[in-house]
Amino acid sequence: MSTSDGNIESILHEDRSFDPMPSKGAPWHIGSLDEYKELYARSIEDPAAYWSQAAEQMHWYNHWRSVVSYEAPDAKWFVGGTTNLCYNCVDRHVKDGFGDQVGIVWEGEPVGDNGPEILRLTYADLQRETAKFANVLLAHGVRRGDVVTIYMGMIPELAIAVLACARIGAVHSVIFGGFSAQAIADRIEDANSKIVITCDGAWRRGSVVPLKDNVDEALELVGEGKVKTVIARQRCMNGIGWTEGRDHWWHDVMQDAIEDCPCVPLDSEEMSFLLYTSGSTGKPKGIQHTVGGYMVYTATTSKFAFNLVPDADQMYWCTADIGWITGHSYILYGIMPNRVPTLMYEGAPNHPEPDRFWDIVERHKITQFYTAPTAIRAFMKWGDEHPKKHDLSSLQVLGTVGEPINPEAWMWYHNVIGGGECPIVDTYWQTETGGHMITPLPGATPTKPGSCTQPFFGIDAAVVDADGNEVGANEGGLLVVRKPWPGMLRGVYGDRDRFVDTYWSTVKIDGKPVYTAGDGARRDDDGYFWIMGRIDDVINVSGHRLGTMEVESAMVAHASIVEAAVVGMPHEIKGTGIAVFCSLATGFTASDDLRSELREHIAKEIGAIAKPDMIRFTDALPKTRSGKIMRRLLRSIAAGELEVNQDTSTLEDFSVVAKLQESGES
Ligand code: WT7
Repeated sequence: MSTSDGNIESILHEDRSFDPMPSKGAPWHIGSLDEYKELYARSIEDPAAYWSQAAEQMHWYNHWRSVVSYEAPDAKWFVGGTTNLCYNCVDRHVKDGFGDQVGIVWEGEPVGDNGPEILRLTYADLQRETAKFANVLLAHGVRRGDVVTIYMGMIPELAIAVLACARIGAVHSVIFGGFSAQAIADRIEDANSKIVITCDGAWRRGSVVPLKDNVDEALELVGEGKVKTVIARQRCMNGIGWTEGRDHWWHDVMQDAIEDCPCVPLDSEEMSFLLYTSGSTGKPKGIQHTVGGYMVYTATTSKFAFNLVPDADQMYWCTADIGWITGHSYILYGIMPNRVPTLMYEGAPNHPEPDRFWDIVERHKITQFYTAPTAIRAFMKWGDEHPKKHDLSSLQVLGTVGEPINPEAWMWYHNVIGGGECPIVDTYWQTETGGHMITPLPGATPTKPGSCTQPFFGIDAAVVDADGNEVGANEGGLLVVRKPWPGMLRGVYGDRDRFVDTYWSTVKIDGKPVYTAGDGARRDDDGYFWIMGRIDDVINVSGHRLGTMEVESAMVAHASIVEAAVVGMPHEIKGTGIAVFCSLATGFTASDDLRSELREHIAKEIGAIAKPDMIRFTDALPKTRSGKIMRRLLRSIAAGELEVNQDTSTLEDFSVVAKLQESGES
């Protein structure tokens, strides 16, 4: 099996069991491995029973008629039920008498003489603000089912805009603030969105990201008149361009907005949001999620994976941006129904100093902390002195997400951040799955550094061969999910074929397609899952998914490039870095200046996250006799396992290695 991720091999054979079973956050919802096993077995025998008792914890206007109906690939959950995500995150708590409890704590990036700006929004505040903004949306013609594009920094108004959409059944499409104008334009066009919510700018590591300028540029690409309304929140006092009639300041439109706007009862299967993610081909695809199933799934996984308990002095913090699925599910939608305050931090982990995160943990007495392995590796590199300066004793549960965590980073997280006392939940999931699929449950699942351990309740995960047969212990195979679950995607927006081809065409069991995640995996002798990396042309850079084809098309869009091949390469911090091999058009010469220009070009076409870590020029790409680019060879070269002429002033000639490789292969 070929994997495109880098640090897999090292993990693959590290089966060190590490089982401290820390007890600091006790009592746990699930107290032992036996309890997990018993509940899991029951949940797999009768998923409908499991999910119906989970759904009973939520508020519904109309009860569902049946729990699930499924004809692969189409699932319907809580059929006939009506509910509302914003109601369950906000209004419900106000109604239950908790209106003055804090729902969202926000901290800004800039640190002034009196420290950073901090805002505490109670459920009553959130009810009022989301109702007001929902009325603003309605006043601008937004109706149930319309797509609202949101491109903002991590400020409270982002959460308010998202929840306001949920209030009235508008579909939000949040675009990460690191994406470029071109990326925004692609998403607006694909979703046919008529309204954009943004900010003048966003603070990032002390400087301003010009969000509104990017939106203006995107709207020029989309074409005049397509987007009717832009609402911008002032944050950085960044000077911005203005289109009269189209552009509005947030503070102006909110000023006279009415505070009353009841949550609309929505059908369980209605679309709640679209979130674009990279695939192996073409443009990013809009993953569709629902109201009811997504709500039940994220709230339930949040409760158990993080051991959330209301009124227990917990303060939860997920460091992701709301522009990614992690932020959707585990800053807002899954956490808030559990009535535990969720912290939103605006900026960078190292601003003004590399101890910023630990400063936040100490000051806010964070109990649950959820971040990415790439961040952990950066913290390790910055040095232990930064966390050591702070009292981190409030921490109870630590989480990771986005990519496999190398055992070394796991141990550092455990010892230096968790003081050896906090369980680590390595949560495996995807934009498409809505929530955690394979994860330890704190207090119940003994952990092994680098393994995401065991499936969540109701998740029938397996590692199979191409025929759908489970492979033996420690054998690599395809990760599939054989039964539907409430949080699963319901489609790729406007592209049924792509939905079917990508997720439901690789493996069939008993003649029926099963969900294929696109990851290679193996299970060890204890049945623990080890993710081996993507099996498609997708690379995982700093926990963010990137299609190699996307970067390749962006490369060839530059006048100097004729052909480009993009592969992953091992990277100390990012996990996987981006390596580009490309051939130049006549009249262009290889140089470091051209390299920098190409890096900037990629940032403009896609976003800074897609900037290549290495660009190598060649007179021709190595190809097989049938004309396929020899990607495996390029991966070995990028990883430094195979040497070729690396003189930057000349073009590299891969033909010799390619021939060697081919004769060896045949
Ligand atoms: C891909 C999904 C889920 C939110 C963040 C990324 C990889 C994710 C893990 C993990 C090993 C992981 C997989 C997956 N991945 N979590 N705990 N261990 N790999 O969401 O952008 O949809 O990417 O990230 O390859 O398919 P995403």
